[in-house]
Amino acid sequence: MLERRTFGDTGLEVSIVGLGAGQIGESDVTEAEAAEVLNGALDLGVTLIDTAASYGLSEERIGRHLGGRRDEFVLSTKGGPKIDGQRDWSPEGVLASIERSLRLTRSERIDLFYLHSCPLEILRRGDLQDTLDAAVGAGKIGVAGYSGDNEPLAFAVDSGRFGAIETSVNIADQWNLRNVLRRRPELGVIAKRPIANAPWRFPERPTGNYAELYWERLQALNLDPGDLDWAEFALRFTVYAPGVHTAIAGTAKLAHLRSNITAASNGPLPAAALEGIDRAWRDVGSDWPAST
Ligand SMILES: NC(=O)c1ccc[n+]([C@@H]2O[C@H](COP(=O)([O-])OP(=O)(O)OC[C@H]3O[C@@H](n4cnc5c(N)ncnc54)[C@H](OP(=O)(O)O)[C@@H]3O)[C@@H](O)[C@H]2O)c1
Repeated sequence: MLERRTFGDTGLEVSIVGLGAGQIGESDVTEAEAAEVLNGALDLGVTLIDTAASYGLSEERIGRHLGGRRDEFVLSTKGGPKIDGQRDWSPEGVLASIERSLRLTRSERIDLFYLHSCPLEILRRGDLQDTLDAAVGAGKIGVAGYSGDNEPLAFAVDSGRFGAIETSVNIADQWNLRNVLRRRPELGVIAKRPIANAPWRFPERPTGNYAELYWERLQALNLDPGDLDWAEFALRFTVYAPGVHTAIAGTAKLAHLRSNITAASNGPLPAAALEGIDRAWRDVGSDWPAST
């Protein structure tokens, strides 16, 4: 069975590999493909699915294909001003985002709801944290979370106002891991972008592609995965990074999810590989902020 971990002090338990459902939001992914990866994930023992209001068709598809299996997984979603008709970070907007997610995912409650990349100056206001507390009190969400990186993440963690965080952690993105993650062990922690957007797919610099920054960083880090394929090397680093509870590898392909689960089940990377990653990071990466 896919290993599970206690998700901080939230009372939840999550599989060490979650499904990043950003990809199933794309309109070039068919309904049949989305249904296959979503149901396949649960059948393989995945118990956390991560989505967001801003991920195209993702929430709607989770509702359509998993509405009847809602008690089998922890639903993690995010909201903010990126959805239709919402321009600012107002309490009303966040509440509308929660209501929309409830409706689209066909849920009575959102298990984990994150403020999606909410900027530091908005977090400092504190009113959105009050809004989330009220939503928890009303039973609309289970846990109030913050999703983001760098200084806003550090502020959110130190504030004590959130029960969970979602943040970038991978071989090419270690600022959050090294500076923030273990400050509060009571928080549930989701590692996003756990395989660094798979930049090894591109023999040449993928200019303008989402994976370009991590491609550039991997060139500079000059890591050696040894006998492992890159996806396994990258994922095992993240899944077993101190403080991480679950790593939400993103895919719309069941075969990729299956191989990610097998890879993660092989355990932490050998000590020599971890030392190589650590050395490379200290040599060239120590000034790199997290990718936002
Ligand atoms: N909170 C935020 O602001 C935020 C930001 C970014 C991401 N996220 C969340 O984190 C999830 C993951 O992040 P991500 O998708 O950006 O990065 P990622 O998981 O590091 O990488 C995903 C990419 O890797 C490929 N891939 C997955 N498994 C593979 C395998 N076994 N072999 C080869 N390629 C593989 C996928 O392509 P295929 O589709 O071909 O499998 C996809 O292009 C998202 O789905 C989303 O839920 C949140």
